[in-house]
Amino acid sequence: MEKIIVKGVKKLDGEVNISCAKNSVLPIIAATILCPQDITITNTPILEDVEVICTLLSQLNCNVNFSKVNNDLTINTSNLNPVDASTDLIRKMRASFLIMGPMLSRFGYCKLSLPGGCNIGSRPIDLHLKGFKALGADVNIGHGFVEVKANKLTGNRIYLDFPSVGATENILTASVLANGTTIIENAAEEPEIEDLAKFLNSMGANIEGAGRGKITIHGVKELKGIKYTPIYDRIEAGTFMIAAAITNSIIKINGINEEHLRPVIEKLKECGLKFEKVGNQSIIVDGREKKKAVDIKTLPYPGFPTDMQSQIMSLLCLTNGISIITETIFENRFMHVTELVRMGANIKIDGRTAIIEGVSKLTGAKVKATDLRAGAAMILAGLAAEGETEISDIYHIDRGYVNIEEKFRNLGAEIYRINV
Ligand code: UD1
Repeated sequence: MEKIIVKGVKKLDGEVNISCAKNSVLPIIAATILCPQDITITNTPILEDVEVICTLLSQLNCNVNFSKVNNDLTINTSNLNPVDASTDLIRKMRASFLIMGPMLSRFGYCKLSLPGGCNIGSRPIDLHLKGFKALGADVNIGHGFVEVKANKLTGNRIYLDFPSVGATENILTASVLANGTTIIENAAEEPEIEDLAKFLNSMGANIEGAGRGKITIHGVKELKGIKYTPIYDRIEAGTFMIAAAITNSIIKINGINEEHLRPVIEKLKECGLKFEKVGNQSIIVDGREKKKAVDIKTLPYPGFPTDMQSQIMSLLCLTNGISIITETIFENRFMHVTELVRMGANIKIDGRTAIIEGVSKLTGAKVKATDLRAGAAMILAGLAAEGETEISDIYHIDRGYVNIEEKFRNLGAEIYRINV
């Protein structure tokens, strides 16, 4: 079993290069199913989740080739066999469910294992299915599977009760080749949705308004193969911003779209951080000032991202005063609290609210990465804690962070992986 060891307390210094966004790459890989030509994704982040979706496509008889030159991932789905997709990989990673929209669109058929719950919440798929039905598909659920069928999908007006990222992506990809026009209202506005639409538009799709609450998709007959570079990972960049803050350091982050991080940057400024933009894609983060307590409510974009909630909680554990974090997106996303308390944090939970009273220090302990971002929160806490922090269940971290120890080591952190 692999573990990560972090030894604090050390200042960080230097530059870090951010990888392309996991949450952009996964729906883009799923969307390659829409077009039976070669599609190349450059700068692909080599992550466990990316490997899972590539394995899934290989199992469905697609050609998936990876080249270390520019991390080019080339996918050709011309031989895809739509009837075999009921594999366990869907249960392993929820984002695999994003192949349903493209499969339904191209083959008029898709049957997948129900993705089920995961440790941060129940994560239903009702909104995805509502969208497919509105486009004319028959949906059947039984024996742990969901099956969707349609002779031809027809554009419609679809209102999402909640701006779900996955549902917006699945409906978007399902409607790109449909007859007529589809309008998604109360759509998710995350930058990764805009990136998916940009990718599809470069292939010949006709999508307007992605990245805003109303997306209009005019169906086209076919898409063509392209080469595409996804956006940078805003959550990875945000994690390194907090690393600068929690270690009272200055670091430069390369590969950042400041606009995508506006909700995080504004909160961190309130907390006492300073930012200096350098060129188009870099930012210097100065985390040396004393940090203030802040209140945070996670919300759909452009609100504060739930995927940054656990990392900022590590920082707030060490600020002067009381901070309140309200998690409105996932009902069970406070599992890292128990772990932070093991390190000396003072946190109480009341339903979806965590009350964090700052302490003067954290101390290294044996802790668990209870989910992907919670794992990052443990590394951050470890960087600021006295002594040694030993993090287990790090497979969660590998799902979403490329070479995380190496990136932190390059900044001067003492962090390494052991196999026990
Ligand atoms: C995506 C991100 C994930 C992020 C989340 C919220 C990817 C691969 N993952 O997950 O990192 O934390 O957005 O920003 O991009 N819901 C329903 N019915 C549905 C679908 C969702 O009720 O049909 C609910 C969920 O239970 C949850 C909320 O909507 O409470 C948000 O989920 P959603 O936006 O769909 O997240 P994902 O796409 O799964």
